[in-house]
Amino acid sequence: MKMGENVTEYFEFAGVKNTENTLKYAIERAKLGISDIVVASSYGETAKMLFDMLEKENLNVNVVVVTYHQGFSGPDVVAMPENVKKDLEKRGATVFSGTHALSGVERGISKRFGGYGPVEVIAQTLKTLGQGVKVCYEVTVMAADAGLVSTKKEIIAIGGSSRGADSAVVIRPSNMNTFFDIELRELICMPKNKKKHE
Ligand SMILES: Cc1cc2nc3c(=O)[nH]c(=O)nc-3n(C[C@H](O)[C@H](O)[C@H](O)COP(=O)(O)O)c2cc1C
Repeated sequence: MKMGENVTEYFEFAGVKNTENTLKYAIERAKLGISDIVVASSYGETAKMLFDMLEKENLNVNVVVVTYHQGFSGPDVVAMPENVKKDLEKRGATVFSGTHALSGVERGISKRFGGYGPVEVIAQTLKTLGQGVKVCYEVTVMAADAGLVSTKKEIIAIGGSSRGADSAVVIRPSNMNTFFDIELRELICMPKNKKKHE
């Protein structure tokens, strides 16, 4: 075990106010030898902050920014403004929008017919570790399926509770068709209380 590995930082409550610290802890872990970061960023806020911090540190890593899929908030609605996406790409990010791995067509079925399916049960189960940790799993699979990270090496994944970031993990990716081979290797940080502080 190298210094700094396997140390988990805990936030008292979930939510956006943990964003800066989450990114700080993720970057500290990356410095110990991880070269890929996958970050959930719907509108671009978390990704922008991540690049501000990486640029200050002069740290060169592969950054994959995963956004909401087009249509998440209504037909054809795009969450991340085009200029924000372009700016992130200029700074070296790959910005990816695709089908959410932990809802997919199953969401369309449960919305139309009611009930639930196994994928949504997996998502709900992962949410017992917090929304952010569930998102870490999801964006990792999405990035792997898009060919933006390899399943052969550990990456850092970052997620949050609706906005910003509050969870970061070291994870060995897997594709959706081998989902249960995914391995959470280290919890870098997470909120103890899964609800946001009122
Ligand atoms: C593919 C995807 C799935 C997400 N699923 C959830 C979720 O199930 N629950 C949740 O609270 N936030 C979810 N989020 C929000 C993220 O965890 C994160 O807080 C957000 O993308 C940050 O966006 P911002 O940088 O614009 O603030 C999801 C985001 C993405 C991109």
